[in-house]
Amino acid sequence: MTILVTGGAGYIGSHTVLYLTEQGEKVIVLDDFSTGHKKAIEGTVCYEGKIHNSELLDKIFIENSIDSVIHFAASSLVGESVTNPLKYYENNVMGTFNLVKKMAEYNVKNIVFSSTAATYGEPKSIPIKEEDATVPTNPYGETKLAIEKLLKWSDEAYGLKSIALRYFNAAGADPEGRIGEDHNPESHLIPIVLQVALRKRNSLKIFGDDYSTEDGTCIRDYIHVLDLAQAHYLAVKKLREEKKSAIYNLGNGTGFSVKQVVDACEKVTGRSIPTEIAPRRAGDPAILIASSQKAQINLQWKPQYSDLESMVKHAWNWHQNNVNGYNETFVYNSKV
Ligand code: UFG
Repeated sequence: MTILVTGGAGYIGSHTVLYLTEQGEKVIVLDDFSTGHKKAIEGTVCYEGKIHNSELLDKIFIENSIDSVIHFAASSLVGESVTNPLKYYENNVMGTFNLVKKMAEYNVKNIVFSSTAATYGEPKSIPIKEEDATVPTNPYGETKLAIEKLLKWSDEAYGLKSIALRYFNAAGADPEGRIGEDHNPESHLIPIVLQVALRKRNSLKIFGDDYSTEDGTCIRDYIHVLDLAQAHYLAVKKLREEKKSAIYNLGNGTGFSVKQVVDACEKVTGRSIPTEIAPRRAGDPAILIASSQKAQINLQWKPQYSDLESMVKHAWNWHQNNVNGYNETFVYNSKV
């Protein structure tokens, strides 16, 4: 039994591939490397291309005995999705449409889908539960929600079983420092703060300090990327065993403000982080905190690195040793 990981060379994808491999699973990756990194999946069999490519999907499903797919491949920049929604509908919705069509054709019945807290939009109550209203405030969240619905109806019609995992703020890196987070351009808080610590940036722009939170900055629920990886594996096993579709939040249930994240980064790095107050970023909710009780009960999910300091420590370890992110000059195990 092989697990196909689409977008497996990305940040969360590559940590999941590493984790699955360490659990003894047979894993193959499909990635177009538009944002992923070959070095992040060193030693893993990889097909290079897009999920929109039907001939490539035929080849992958014919050449491998795939029983489950973990689907990360997507565009995932909230701001870009607002200025270029068609890209998001094309890459996320149309791409998944093609993947699901091919899964139905080749009778592959399990899919774990990388969804997001952005499906909720501005929450009415905290912590956010899976049954709360889903009213996305940007095309990114809208396309992820559309895919969740596509999967729901595909279960009813074709018996395709899916688990959608709505992550909150992924953070950290492989505790052993083998892989980490490298986006270009970087938009996420912790890597940006660490770039300031490395003096690659002069200061952190804090997007708004006039929110109705204790220190005025936005609060988020940070979750270690390895805990996300563990949840994906538990979801695959659940689908294999119980063949039942579901949706789960993945977060720690604890919120940290932007200023608290900066403090944690100063503590871990031992370096000062200059900050400046900038205008609010459009579409940022004041507080996002998950209730992940459902995943903890049903998937038996137990986050191992729930303290913010561990997440920052692991991220810092990787960034310090990879100041320029991944260096793409090695040869990987390519099938195409
Ligand atoms: N922030 C700053 N300065 C920066 C970068 C971020 O102040 O330079 C703030 C943001 O305004 C926000 C917090 O730090 O309040 C976290 O921002 P991130 O960009 O790291 O993460 P988001 O909460 O915006 O995004 C995350 C995921 C998205 C997902 C979204 C759901 O990364 O994929 O949650 O709302 F869509």
